[in-house]
Amino acid sequence: MILLFSAGLFGIYFLNQSHSRQTTAPSDEKYYFADSKYSGIRSKFVTRDNKREKVSIEYPITENEKINRLISESIDKIDRDFQNTVLLATVFDKPMTETISYQVTHNTSEALSIVVNIKQDMNGAHPASMTQFWTFDKKSGEVVGLADFTEQSDEAAEAIISAAKNSVSQTIKQRQQPEIDLNEIINKEALSNFIITNNGNALAWPLGQASLLPSSYGELTITVPISSVSKYLQNPTARKLANIPKPAEKPKPTPATPTPIVANKTIALTFDDGPGPYTEKLLDILDKYDAKATFFLIGSKVSARANTLRRMQSRGHQLGNHSWSHPELNKVSAEQLASEIDQTNNAIKQAVGTKPNIIRPPYGAFNRAVLEQFRQRGMSAVVWSVDTRDWADRNSEIVCSRAVAGARNGAVILMHDIHPTSVNAVPCILNSLKQQGYSFVTVQNLIGDMTPGAVYP
Ligand code: NI
Repeated sequence: MILLFSAGLFGIYFLNQSHSRQTTAPSDEKYYFADSKYSGIRSKFVTRDNKREKVSIEYPITENEKINRLISESIDKIDRDFQNTVLLATVFDKPMTETISYQVTHNTSEALSIVVNIKQDMNGAHPASMTQFWTFDKKSGEVVGLADFTEQSDEAAEAIISAAKNSVSQTIKQRQQPEIDLNEIINKEALSNFIITNNGNALAWPLGQASLLPSSYGELTITVPISSVSKYLQNPTARKLANIPKPAEKPKPTPATPTPIVANKTIALTFDDGPGPYTEKLLDILDKYDAKATFFLIGSKVSARANTLRRMQSRGHQLGNHSWSHPELNKVSAEQLASEIDQTNNAIKQAVGTKPNIIRPPYGAFNRAVLEQFRQRGMSAVVWSVDTRDWADRNSEIVCSRAVAGARNGAVILMHDIHPTSVNAVPCILNSLKQQGYSFVTVQNLIGDMTPGAVYP
């Protein structure tokens, strides 16, 4: 999807060499600001690119200074350690790389959940992947720990901890990894920082490698659907920050929380806004790596490239709806909404014989009425968990490093096959992530059964 450019974005102001920090700033450090897709949040990008290091850091700039300070201090500490390693290194076959980016998983007037992904590759050593994550009270700027969220209820904390243990042991079983005593590992302290995900309906802990479990267990996201612990969370803080169903309500079914369905680490690459002139080349690349992907298609472009759609289908890729003319679906009339969906479904059906059961609303924009229309057609909404922002940076290396930095088991990566730079980034993404043990599946295979009208991942 092409995001709306607001004035700030291409008014990127490059300010060279004037960035102040405590350590001596390398002379090639640059920074600039850009809008993010998250409401009320901008990004500050810092880059350093020289023979010794190749660094790209994206800091979130929210409306609350206190939040900004906590996150930037945490990022700077990690970056200083990296810089020290670079300073001490003597041999430079190739630059050491560091990519730090962030994702917002929950953003309401009251609450903000942010994950910072850190990937470092120090020549030859394993690429280190780490995460830092927090939920903030947006008004006060304070971090909300599990004890705050449960308002100090031991019973609530125990319920969440036990659900988290179940989630981990299930994942370990599915991955066929050795059993491990989780009682020592998963406790109040370990789970204190958490994020809210899934439209306020789940708590999650996106753990980097070796952050709780031994390194050999790899990365792991613990997810606890709120519906499974909601009776313990009937307190004002939790209600303010997340969606806590009232006790009388039947707990909502929670299919929206994907559990890994295969033993390996899997990722769904998704390509929006096509089909276009570079889509065939992309299909060649995917074939070569035996990777499956998901294409969210613009209905009006389909009939001119029906053969390309047939090829997608025959190679096991998944086809999805991305509207007819790419409007914000929450802002169009009921008639246009229906026709954006139906015309595109019909065009795809005409090309390949079946209608899609997934739709990605342009700009990720939807509301209840939009979801209701999806539901009535048996369709689920699919958004993304990693945004490569390939429409903003038409640079294959940047696109590749963002995809690789954000990758984790179960991730849905957003790209656009209408940009040649994005298509050219795909071999790099597939190579890097294959080496890390990932395989590439369709959204359907990543998520499994989806409920019509629900939003994934
Ligand atoms: Ni789009």
